[in-house]
Amino acid sequence: MTIRQPIVTVCGHVDHGKTSILDRIRGSSVAAAEAGGITQKISFTLFPAKNIKKGCSLLDKRGYKLDIPGFLFIDTPGHAAFTNLRKRGGSLADLAILVIDINEGIKPQTSEVLSILKLNKTPFIIALNKVDNISGWRKQSEDLKESIEKQAIHAKQNFEEKLYTFQASLNSYGFNSDLFFNLTDFTKKIAIIPCSARTGEGIPELLMMLCGLSQRFLKDKLSLGEKAKGVILEIKKEKTCEYLECILYDGKLKQGDEIVIASFSNPLKAKIRSMEEIQPVSFSFKPVKEAVAATGLRIQLCEKAEILPGMPFQIFKNNLSEIEREFKKELTENIKTDEKGIVIKAESLGSLEALLLLLKQDNISVLKAEIGKITKQDISQAKANAEIPGNSVILGFNVSVDEEAAEMKNDVKIIEGDVVYKLIEDLKKWQEEKRKEIEKEKLLSLASICKLEILPNFVFHNSNPAIFGVRVLGGKLKPDIYLIDENNEKISHVKNIQHEKTSLKEAVPEMEVAISLPGIAFDRQLKNSRFLYADLSEAQFRKLKENKDVLSSGELKILQEIASMKRKEKATWGV
Ligand code: GTP
Ligand code: MG
Repeated sequence: MTIRQPIVTVCGHVDHGKTSILDRIRGSSVAAAEAGGITQKISFTLFPAKNIKKGCSLLDKRGYKLDIPGFLFIDTPGHAAFTNLRKRGGSLADLAILVIDINEGIKPQTSEVLSILKLNKTPFIIALNKVDNISGWRKQSEDLKESIEKQAIHAKQNFEEKLYTFQASLNSYGFNSDLFFNLTDFTKKIAIIPCSARTGEGIPELLMMLCGLSQRFLKDKLSLGEKAKGVILEIKKEKTCEYLECILYDGKLKQGDEIVIASFSNPLKAKIRSMEEIQPVSFSFKPVKEAVAATGLRIQLCEKAEILPGMPFQIFKNNLSEIEREFKKELTENIKTDEKGIVIKAESLGSLEALLLLLKQDNISVLKAEIGKITKQDISQAKANAEIPGNSVILGFNVSVDEEAAEMKNDVKIIEGDVVYKLIEDLKKWQEEKRKEIEKEKLLSLASICKLEILPNFVFHNSNPAIFGVRVLGGKLKPDIYLIDENNEKISHVKNIQHEKTSLKEAVPEMEVAISLPGIAFDRQLKNSRFLYADLSEAQFRKLKENKDVLSSGELKILQEIASMKRKEKATWGV
């Protein structure tokens, strides 16, 4: 039985130190060279057994025999939420390191990662990073346990306080945890390894835990399979060539092999023209004729094909219909949509699934979930959805909006972003605003709020009807509302509203319009008035008051003015 490298994903909130920990392990300095110190995309590192031994003398000291050929580490960008790397039936990661800044604890992206690790049942350990930032902390020993024990009293107290707070909040996500050296049953509790990418403390212990867990719990999963299987991370276009950057997670792949790549329509079959493999502890690729899992590859295909990132692929062995069935099941099982709901688009299969999962947790229905940019069809579908107003929205995770689509979007709201939790937050906020808007419309269709200022220099017709200019100060002026003056005298109803010779269905604040009021004479009833209000019954007033959270501050003020006017006449009015 040949054992392949476990695939170890490093994930966590932005800036908590994922790349720095990998730098410490590799002896590289990638984090410092990154633009803005931010990891932009997934990268992988092949880390052979001999490097593990070098980085972790504890193995020799404890007489530990290493059976695995090394690790394939995957670094993920924290800002783009969790790029959900998956393969058939679960996570691409055999193991994950969840990196958490001990001084910050669980942040929104940490909790996203926790949800996805839980869903995929991915075993993980926690690197509780940046212990060197704890007030009073000094590295006391090469041995982490000893170093913790030998800290000065206040440093130890600070450390323990942070650790316990963290453990309690992790507990609320349904995970029990403990410091790795206190653990006896690794299947029941999550191991915490305090560490510092800056000083290197805890890094050998982290490596040791990865080795221990891999060899004790993952060996069956790590036997190299017959069929080559992988997942596509990225499609790179360079000059005239197109490369697929991918991870081969099982089997062997050779130049000239045919592979089948999943797609939402028919799977694509293509021949491998050339292949390059990632070099150990490096970021450079070298041409190879054959590659064995687990490894990172750049593949060039003979045929041109529309390939989507995140899609799985498999070697073709005259088994197209079998693969087709497998892929179809995979895609339909994981991308389940509802009959009604919002439209979501994402850059890759993994992120689409993650988005879908997190929306489901919030009970938000999804009508359509696809990979790729936002198109005309998406807008039409979101529009057709408008009967439920909170549904006429498209969420775009790391995708652009088609030009045609942008032109025709009208009432469809598009929310774009590259952070899943922020997208969902924005969606909820928008849906709440929409709900309030609708409630308000309903409310105001029963009773209008409106305050007008009379423009005495613009009296166009004195009586029957009186036609004169007004400025809308607040609320909405609509035909047929009944007006009172500032002394609560009933005036008349609005027969018509005109602006530049056209009749209006409504006028909003700041507008100056002409209104016609039947049955009155301006010089008798309005000469000494300055303001007019839409009249309200006491019942209407109460209803508006009950729903005052949907009213603007201007509308609320008008309501108060009306109430104080009415109370002069009837002391109990509206109280
Ligand atoms: P993204 O890839 O953008 O999500 O960030 P990351 O999680 O990879 O974090 P990165 O390794 O880029 O580190 C972020 C910052 O924290 C950098 O300024 C690092 O120097 C600093 N940092 C990382 N680890 C430690 C640590 O153990 N101690 C201290 N004091 N600083 C650290
Ligand atoms: Mg990083």
